[in-house]
Amino acid sequence: MPKPLRIAVLASGRGSNLAALLAARDHHALAIEPVLVASDKAHAGALQLAEAAGIPSLHLNPRRYDNRRDFDIDLFTRIGDSGAQLIVLAGFMRILDGDALRPWVGRMINIHPSLLPKYRGLHTHRRALEAGDAEHGASVHYVTAELDGGPVIAQARIAVLPDDNEHTLAQRLLIQEHRLLPAVVSALAEQRLALAGADTVMWDGTPLQAPLRLEDGLLERGARDE
Ligand code: GAR
Repeated sequence: MPKPLRIAVLASGRGSNLAALLAARDHHALAIEPVLVASDKAHAGALQLAEAAGIPSLHLNPRRYDNRRDFDIDLFTRIGDSGAQLIVLAGFMRILDGDALRPWVGRMINIHPSLLPKYRGLHTHRRALEAGDAEHGASVHYVTAELDGGPVIAQARIAVLPDDNEHTLAQRLLIQEHRLLPAVVSALAEQRLALAGADTVMWDGTPLQAPLRLEDGLLERGARDE
């Protein structure tokens, strides 16, 4: 096992992806030390989870700041103070200021419920259904100033079923998210991943030509890499 990677998790909602990270850690499948869970929502389930797990938690109220940048600068300062080596956005529903996040590029990842570059932003399940997609999925990517636009590290795919609605699709995808995020964080903890330059994801020392794919819980090189 590598030395635990100190992570800060940012979440606005229920925190099921945070729970998946903690479960993987508890099963000795993920070498992480969560040093902070922060949220813009006072009642986020993620904060309650953190408190129950004895992880330092922090609520920052955006209304107390004059503008987005001031909020983000305070947030990143506190994350820096926590000693985090990696920031994981797990359902953090705020746009981050490009200048404030810049020092963390390469050390901050986000999970997004679509096969990026498809469907950046909101309502991804609805948009996949409306487009008649045969496949849907989730992506973990490095965070850059471009919303949901940073280099994609890995994706999990599911088939869209004929009678799927937004709810069933989201539910089935969430199960995959709970595998994908710990798998990527584990690869980061093992130093198998890095961002080179602005947009090249390195996997075991060589550039990825396509996002890694989650297959049976393991990350594998995508088709264009074989
Ligand atoms: C997850 O589905 C995640 O992919 C999504 O929010 C949900 C959070 O669920 N993130 C985004 O939409 C970010 N653009 P959780 O709070 O149960 O982990």
